[in-house]
Amino acid sequence: MNIVDAKIESYLDGIYGRRNEVLREMEEEAGKRDFPIVGPLVGKLLYQLARMVDARRVFEMGSGYGYSAMWWAKAMDDGSGGEIFLTERSRSNKEKGEAYLERAGLMKYVKYNLADALEAIDITAGEFDIVFIDIEKSQYPAALEKAARRVRRGGLLVADNVLWSGKVAEEKGDASTEGIKEFNRRLFSMKNFASSIVPIRDGVAVAFKVN
Ligand SMILES: C[S@@+](CC[C@H](N)C(=O)[O-])C[C@H]1O[C@@H](n2cnc3c(N)ncnc32)[C@H](O)[C@@H]1O
Repeated sequence: MNIVDAKIESYLDGIYGRRNEVLREMEEEAGKRDFPIVGPLVGKLLYQLARMVDARRVFEMGSGYGYSAMWWAKAMDDGSGGEIFLTERSRSNKEKGEAYLERAGLMKYVKYNLADALEAIDITAGEFDIVFIDIEKSQYPAALEKAARRVRRGGLLVADNVLWSGKVAEEKGDASTEGIKEFNRRLFSMKNFASSIVPIRDGVAVAFKVN
């Protein structure tokens, strides 16, 4: 099921404006490889969220070849800088991502960890302005538990694919669907987060840490 009608997606794409050459090349590669990047509509939202909370420390779980990271990095490229901790378990994705970020002049903000995201967050000290979750969907509940503790007050926990092509509405799904359903249930029961799901592309959870 398409969450957003293709006509609306294409309308939004039309009014959001053009993207730089590197982003467009990454989008083309995703199309060719059928690789699940967040895409331009969600990318733009990530950029906006980072600007809204003046993010200087972002932890990303599941970075692929760096497309979503490019949007975080663009938000930091305003003179004040920052740090983005990326985690990816595929070496070839990591190397590809580093090359793209380098070409865009944004690698200076990035630490690309070849690691399991659930382990890497435990050994990365400090609080984060934003933690973004985009790993294996069955791991979403575990990712939520770790991420929620590490977001600063006034910061954001953001997760992609939380509507999972509409499969979240099924009574009983596969491990990925059940992982996302459990993630959504737990997120909306957390009283220290004010949360919403933005239904663009495959659904993005945006949770603001109130206290
Ligand atoms: C949906 S893709 C990420 C796309 C990326 N966020 C973007 O929009 O450009 C998910 C990526 O997470 C990686 N991955 C899945 N589970 C992981 C884990 N537990 N730790 C680290 N990487 C993981 C996969 O190898 C894959 O490249």
